[in-house]
Amino acid sequence: MGIIEKAEEFAKKEYLKNGPAHGWAHVEKVRKTAFKLASGLEGVDLELLHLAVIFHDVDYSDPKFHTENSTRIAESFLMRNSYPEDRIGKVKSIMFSHTTHLREKFGEAELVEGKILYDADKINASSERDYSKLLYFSKSRELLGKSRVQE
Ligand SMILES: [Fe+2]
Ligand SMILES: [Fe+2]
Repeated sequence: MGIIEKAEEFAKKEYLKNGPAHGWAHVEKVRKTAFKLASGLEGVDLELLHLAVIFHDVDYSDPKFHTENSTRIAESFLMRNSYPEDRIGKVKSIMFSHTTHLREKFGEAELVEGKILYDADKINASSERDYSKLLYFSKSRELLGKSRVQE
């Protein structure tokens, strides 16, 4: 089993603890949008993006600190599975880029995969907030428009 399959198998069980807005179905929607965005961009590391998508909301027990907590779970899972340390660092960075309050505090996403995860998450967000001005890619604004029409 590859690292993605292992991560999926592990995370799916963890997501059962979350409410419906942050369950596995949310991960699948974010993944679909993230891959759509990635296909139009160059130099995207799909494995890193995929791992960050899988883990980004994995511990939602404390909404305010869910990014920090989820990142810790991802890190220990990846370490247990001997994933390269420098790549674990990147997965963490991508995950940290997905929340608006951390972006306001620490600045824009450093990695392209972080920008993709931010946009994909907001396009599939359950909140009423208007994210259109915060999205990194113009393609995301198109997708956000479509997701609103479908609702
Ligand atoms: Fe989140
Ligand atoms: Fe999310």
